[in-house]
Amino acid sequence: MFITFEGGEGTGKTTLMKDIAEILSQEYEVVTSREPGGSMITEAIRDIILNPKYKGVTPYTEALLLAASRAQHLDEIILPALKANKIVLCDRYLDSSLAYQAYARDLGFDFVLSINQYATYHMPALTFYIDLDPLVGMARISNRAKYDRLDQETVLFHQKVREGYLKISKMYPDRIVTIDGTLSIEEIKKQIIAKIKETL
Ligand code: TYD
Repeated sequence: MFITFEGGEGTGKTTLMKDIAEILSQEYEVVTSREPGGSMITEAIRDIILNPKYKGVTPYTEALLLAASRAQHLDEIILPALKANKIVLCDRYLDSSLAYQAYARDLGFDFVLSINQYATYHMPALTFYIDLDPLVGMARISNRAKYDRLDQETVLFHQKVREGYLKISKMYPDRIVTIDGTLSIEEIKKQIIAKIKETL
């Protein structure tokens, strides 16, 4: 079973995913990964996408690099794990490209879906979108030592990302479960585990 986690900056989804993986691994074989990244090749692509030193990366290049990283990650990590009957938890997937590149960067859903056609053949069974006001999320990460190229975007951009996610959640209501990011981490975990068990 393929499960993804989505949300803006500072929603706590990375910690959350780690905890969920630990709980599920008591009963199942679990593989965790993240996008962009997860393997040597995709971590190299991640550096070009996120390192502030490459500030000249244009929106189209950004979307194409993310799609390339996603294709590599599918072949190297996700598909082999699913074939071996493992549960795969992934921090971000195609919905991130729909919210950030198609919607917030205005590249449009058609373009982003077309360059990600390979990923559309392998969609997650479940996606948890942690919804949070970007002002709250960005305040939570304000003490981070390092900001990547996308963290450095304006609040307005991150508000657009959230709008994008809310639209996408309405487009795919059977797959995407929207979680209130202001709830306690324990409550969020409870909701997610209940939904996964119900689906399994
Ligand atoms: P990361 O440090 O993993 O951020 P977070 O902890 O917020 O998940 O950085 C990933 C960044 O890349 C994040 O700002 C979202 C962005 N991104 C896209 O814009 N499009 C995509 O398709 C993906 C996978 C990520």
